[in-house]
Amino acid sequence: MTRLILTLSLVITFLLPSCYYDTEEELYPANNGNNCDSVQGSFSSEILPVINVQCRSCHNTSFSSGGVNLEGFTNIQNAALNGKLIQSLRHESGVSPMPQNSPKLDDCTLKAFEDWKNAGAPNN
Ligand code: HEC
Repeated sequence: MTRLILTLSLVITFLLPSCYYDTEEELYPANNGNNCDSVQGSFSSEILPVINVQCRSCHNTSFSSGGVNLEGFTNIQNAALNGKLIQSLRHESGVSPMPQNSPKLDDCTLKAFEDWKNAGAPNN
């Protein structure tokens, strides 16, 4: 009986955890930042629509939370080029995570922001 319990506990300790192969990539295949084939890094089709829906209510000319105005291309470009925009979207330490009180944007949207910024944040 003791042997049986010992054997069982060995099985539970060593075999069962090794059967658990789920990784984030397998569970969320389209969301790992590498499968974002359709991302173009386009300001007009990928950046602006997200800002308008997710950010502008708190970051506009008459109501600029934290002194950040995300209304109009030049303001958005400035926020991107000074680094704060991407850092806040990526929830990096030292900046406030954005969008405030909402879930982090999905990885492909984040990639679009980064590709756009790395291209020099053009008005494309
Ligand atoms: C519900 C209101 C709200 C929404 C929506 C919102 N923000 Fe903010 N944001 C704030 C407030 C308030 C601050 C300043 C206080 C703080 O830092 O927490 C801020 C600060 C920031 C900062 C400066 C961060 C820093 O630490 O310097 C950036 C950049 C920013 N927001 C970008 C965004 C972007 C991009 C979005 C959309 C994806 C967004 N915010 C959506 C309220 C909001």
